[in-house]
Amino acid sequence: MPSNKSIVFSAQNVSKTFGAGKRLKTAVNNVTFDIYDGEIISIVGGSGCGKSVLAKVMLGLYQPTSGVFLYRDDKIRSLKKHWNEVQSVFQDPFSCFNQFFTIRSQLEDALNILEKKPSKEEVKARVDAGLMAVNVKPADIEGKYPFELSGGQMQRMLLARIFALKPKVLIADEPTSMVDACVRANILDYLMKLKQELQMTIVFVTHDIGLANYVSDRIFIMHEGSIVNQGTPEEVLDKTDEPHTLKLLDDIPEVHKTEWIKNSHRSKR
Ligand SMILES: Nc1ncnc2c1ncn2[C@@H]1O[C@H](COP(=O)(O)OP(=O)(O)OP(=O)(O)O)[C@@H](O)[C@H]1O
Ligand SMILES: [Mg+2]
Repeated sequence: MPSNKSIVFSAQNVSKTFGAGKRLKTAVNNVTFDIYDGEIISIVGGSGCGKSVLAKVMLGLYQPTSGVFLYRDDKIRSLKKHWNEVQSVFQDPFSCFNQFFTIRSQLEDALNILEKKPSKEEVKARVDAGLMAVNVKPADIEGKYPFELSGGQMQRMLLARIFALKPKVLIADEPTSMVDACVRANILDYLMKLKQELQMTIVFVTHDIGLANYVSDRIFIMHEGSIVNQGTPEEVLDKTDEPHTLKLLDDIPEVHKTEWIKNSHRSKR
């Protein structure tokens, strides 16, 4: 763990429950971790294990029911201030865009969240740069509405927004779920590019332990709200007899498995 880096997120015994009595649901159960500046952390686990709820705690959308959750040594008090630095890419890109406005206008509006308002020219230049970063020619989306693009293209638009906003931290919740293998590989490369060019801290939420191995500095394995295994990919994948980790490894399709085992020996940074 990088002792010389500052801590971005710190969770101490954080739980998040919903409902009460018989209907009590513990979505996140007593998790403790630190995430350091510039790291890519993957949160991996099966459906319903609490990944998105934990991601929403990081975004300040949920307060922990118990425990302490800090962003840069402080509780999240103002969402607007928090979202200046911490941004997200969510599972369904269509839910993040309004169908009745052009994509361009929404990408430009996204920059309104910034405390230091950029000029009109700068907004245009930053959106253009964001589009180019995900290999989309600005002219290709000119005058287009979200329904005119495919799911994969819309996911790129979300990433273009991130390149334009340049947040310090990105929470990416299954950003590759709607795209085919080729586009998925591109998106993963964009995530690496965000880390390398903007020194962004990235929390990547996924079902897929193979992808996590490929992109992460450290992996947290979740099961029923708890973090049951955490460490570098080597620590988590190679030296483990933790049953939930083994189950996730078993679930990787054979073709994909050979691909990531090959990649796992490649330098990640
Ligand atoms: N607002 C809510 N009210 C009640 N229960 C909720 C709420 N949000 C999530 N849950 C429950 O908390 C648990 C964890 O949900 P979460 O969305 O974090 O799962 P996940 O790991 O992201 O799953 P998936 O991989 O399918 O996206 C689930 O049992 C879910 O039903
Ligand atoms: Mg989820």
